Amino acid sequence: MLNIVQISKEFGRGDQAQTAVQNVSLTLQKNEIFALVGESGSGKSTLAEIVIGLQQPTSGSIVWQEEAGLNWGKGRSRTRKRMSPWKVQMIFQNPDRSLNPYWKVKDIVSEPLVLQQVSRAEAGIMAAELLERVKLPLSLMEKSPSECSGGQKQRIAIARALMMAPSLLIADEITSALDPSTEEEILNLLRSLKDEHQMAILYITHRLESISGFADRMAVMKAGTIVEEGTVERVLSNSQNTYTRDLIKACFYV
Ligand SMILES: Nc1ncnc2c1ncn2[C@@H]1O[C@H](COP(=O)(O)OP(=O)(O)OP(=O)(O)O)[C@@H](O)[C@H]1O
Ligand SMILES: [Mg+2]
Repeated sequence: MLNIVQISKEFGRGDQAQTAVQNVSLTLQKNEIFALVGESGSGKSTLAEIVIGLQQPTSGSIVWQEEAGLNWGKGRSRTRKRMSPWKVQMIFQNPDRSLNPYWKVKDIVSEPLVLQQVSRAEAGIMAAELLERVKLPLSLMEKSPSECSGGQKQRIAIARALMMAPSLLIADEITSALDPSTEEEILNLLRSLKDEHQMAILYITHRLESISGFADRMAVMKAGTIVEEGTVERVLSNSQNTYTRDLIKACFYV
């Protein structure tokens, strides 16, 4: 669905210039879970922000494949740069910064539809449905995020993202602040939602141990470049790269 083509991103100029992403190319398929792993500062979030359009790359391009069934008219190229014909949603690491603390959960989850001129009553019904789908009690509807646990807050963020029926969901370190059992619940939830909603997930994490049995394919980033890419099964069992092998050792044998 998406080709990331030789993307580079530099921050700052002259002596201060720093390359956050360097010549990265990746392809994301429909309905797959793609894990992007790598240590802190390796450029994962920057790449994700470029994909969703929050940042402009210094060079390279993001090429969206035409969505099946969408008619761009005769003679249009099969691919379309910049604007995505697919809906993309992103969930961030810190729900306290992405969820408005003064709003009720029902308004937070309803907001994307209300912004699209759907009536509050109708959006509220959808919000209740999505809360159920992310396995949250309906009693949370009238509460504020401060009354919810960390895991609940990330489920609220997931529900809000699903309101837009995205074809690609980008999840950037969304389980980093959660305990391992809550993390596992969230990953199971994402996996079943992916099947129900037929969406692709770009899952960003520095925790390699969490992606086995969850993601389909993966790429390992180091200092802005992709050092290895493949199916999760292949990379975890038979990595061809010393850096990846060190990362695996550090994650699995502490
Ligand atoms: N807005 C910015 N201005 C200047 N430098 C930035 C900016 N955003 C990121 N960087 C730098 O780019 C590099 C990559 O950062 P990025 O946030 O993409 O890493 P990351 O892999 O997501 O790390 P983490 O796992 O800690 O979230 C880092 O060296 C960071 O300091
Ligand atoms: Mg990051």
